Amino acid sequence: MLNNVFTELTEASKEKKHPYRYFFMSSCGLNGHIRQRTMVLRDVIDGQFLQAYTDRRSKKMTHINEHNEVSLLFFNPETLTQITMVAYVEVEKDKEELQKKWETIPDYSKIDYIASDIPGTIIDNPNNIKYNDHGGNFTILYFIPEKIEILQIKRPNHIRASYEKTNFGWEGVYITP
Ligand SMILES: Cc1cc2nc3c(=O)[nH]c(=O)nc-3n(C[C@H](O)[C@H](O)[C@H](O)COP(=O)(O)O)c2cc1C
Repeated sequence: MLNNVFTELTEASKEKKHPYRYFFMSSCGLNGHIRQRTMVLRDVIDGQFLQAYTDRRSKKMTHINEHNEVSLLFFNPETLTQITMVAYVEVEKDKEELQKKWETIPDYSKIDYIASDIPGTIIDNPNNIKYNDHGGNFTILYFIPEKIEILQIKRPNHIRASYEKTNFGWEGVYITP
């Protein structure tokens, strides 16, 4: 079941219409406030590390810097399958790697990372956002899953499984839905 999950997530990172392409990331900073947001799954590396892009000035980065454990949720409405994960986040530090990736991003998508004002700044008009073009706020996040739960709602029995990463690889059990 877990192998299927990573295979499907890999497909989702390549197919624009795949239900797992958009996922939800919840984070918690030092003050205990929780935030969640939609993200795009960009890649699955070595079969199990998930990759996403963001603006390093965004609030999620403050949270990640304070506490780098997050919860991720993927939902497929076609199969009624929910995947939840506890993951650690690593932020790309290698400037060359960031530059290399930045160059692959189409211009129409670059605007997501080049607003002159930091994300969350109050503005007069959403059609009048100022941009600069250096791309220096673009960054890459890597999610390293530690625990994964899969729940599929179906007849006659729902299926729920829980996996934990151990020194011997992933170990899983079925649990009551
Ligand atoms: C369809 C959709 C896709 C999104 N993809 C991303 C993404 O890949 N990376 C990202 O940082 N924000 C993405 N966002 C915006 C976030 O959901 C969020 O609003 C923004 O990053 C600010 O979050 P924060 O203040 O918690 O850091 C997306 C939003 C939507 C609606």
